[in-house]
Amino acid sequence: MSSALQTPLAPSTPRRTVALRQPTVDDGGELWRMATESQTLDVNTSYAYLLWCRDFGTTSLMAEIDGEPAGFVIGYVRPENPETLMIWQVAVDSSHRGQGLARTLLDGLVDRVPGVTRMETTITDDNRASIALFTSFAKRRDASIQRDDLFGDHHFPDNHDAERLYTIAPLS
Ligand SMILES: CC(C)(COP(=O)(O)OP(=O)(O)OC[C@H]1O[C@@H](n2cnc3c(N)ncnc32)[C@H](O)[C@@H]1OP(=O)(O)O)[C@@H](O)C(=O)NCCC(=O)NCCS
Repeated sequence: MSSALQTPLAPSTPRRTVALRQPTVDDGGELWRMATESQTLDVNTSYAYLLWCRDFGTTSLMAEIDGEPAGFVIGYVRPENPETLMIWQVAVDSSHRGQGLARTLLDGLVDRVPGVTRMETTITDDNRASIALFTSFAKRRDASIQRDDLFGDHHFPDNHDAERLYTIAPLS
């Protein structure tokens, strides 16, 4: 499913065509590129992004600006709790940040996945942009946001920082 809007993302940006659509296997490489260039995300193998697009495309979304890949969000519905949408990664190309694109991706995804009443994501304490994004998302949805420990640094076999679980609910 694809939708396009002829709109500036923020008042100060020129008019662009922003299109949101479900990513396909053909987009997996671009998702991997954007994750790599984000310089913040854990970059998974290119294979993982192809597989993700194949099997979890319906709970993921890609943004294009004027036909060029500009951002993505990938997530899944938790098998044990089908009302929970887990957001695994969200990224926006550096040239398009600060214009509301990540917000648009999260809104677009939640509105596309039926039956979801709760969002989860994990964030490391040093990722201020991500914390601000999800806090702002919760506020605009008039939902609560709760932070809990999930994966401590002792869980990771490498030098990965602890990942806290953020839960946003209720989603309407
Ligand atoms: C995090 C990220 C996706 C935000 O994308 P974006 O399109 O610039 O975000 P938006 O413009 O939609 O901003 C949404 C909200 O987050 C806030 N925000 C975004 N980046 C921020 C930053 N660097 N510092 C503080 N607040 C920030 C915005 O002010 C906005 O809040 P508001 O609604 O109260 O005004 C982007 O910075 C990115 O790709 N980072 C690298 C990957 C990453 O860390 N992903 C998140 C972990 S999965």
